[in-house]
Amino acid sequence: MIKLTKEKILRLRTELPPIKEALAKFNDDLIREFVRDALERAPDGLWLDPCSSSGRYHPPFDQVVPGGIINHLIIVGLYFVEQGIRRYPEFTNDKSEPTPRWLDLARATFMVHDIAKSGIPWEKRTDPNHGSLGAQFLNRLQSFRELDLADRIMILKGVTWHMGRWTPTRKLGCFDAIVLLIREADYYSTRKRVRIAGLELINYSSLPAK
Ligand SMILES: [Fe+2]
Ligand SMILES: [Fe+2]
Repeated sequence: MIKLTKEKILRLRTELPPIKEALAKFNDDLIREFVRDALERAPDGLWLDPCSSSGRYHPPFDQVVPGGIINHLIIVGLYFVEQGIRRYPEFTNDKSEPTPRWLDLARATFMVHDIAKSGIPWEKRTDPNHGSLGAQFLNRLQSFRELDLADRIMILKGVTWHMGRWTPTRKLGCFDAIVLLIREADYYSTRKRVRIAGLELINYSSLPAK
């Protein structure tokens, strides 16, 4: 468990050890730089708030303050993405290993999918439309526009539709595999009884937010 104050989190942001470690995993420098830039420019609330403003729907490590959303996006959920991606033929090579490009895209999409969780500007409550708001936020970043069009489309789809049946303007069916992967990792990594051994979480032993 890494014990961090609010001030230290805001001062260090992507220089925090677990975030640096996650960013170091990217194969593509442009994708890494986009994720770093997006997280740096994200509202302070993303770095400080618990995952669920109501206190429901998330396990304790997602609910610590400060750092709950970061535990979800960059530590726990990312682990589920890295495991889940192996089940998809779309993302794997002949040896059943995920290809570097798809691993990069899946990791990048997950790390930014809740970037507008409580809206832009950030409010107190989860915005039910935060998938679309997040996609709009990313689209405005120069670092995002430098990515290949095909990569941008994948990331935007994953972010926009990550809430699945809870997406306000949901469309049923015909989703790309990346949307399904992000949705699954988002859902299963946040079940109340999920236990994560061996992951270094931020402020996990502090009291969960009410
Ligand atoms: Fe979300
Ligand atoms: Fe999420």
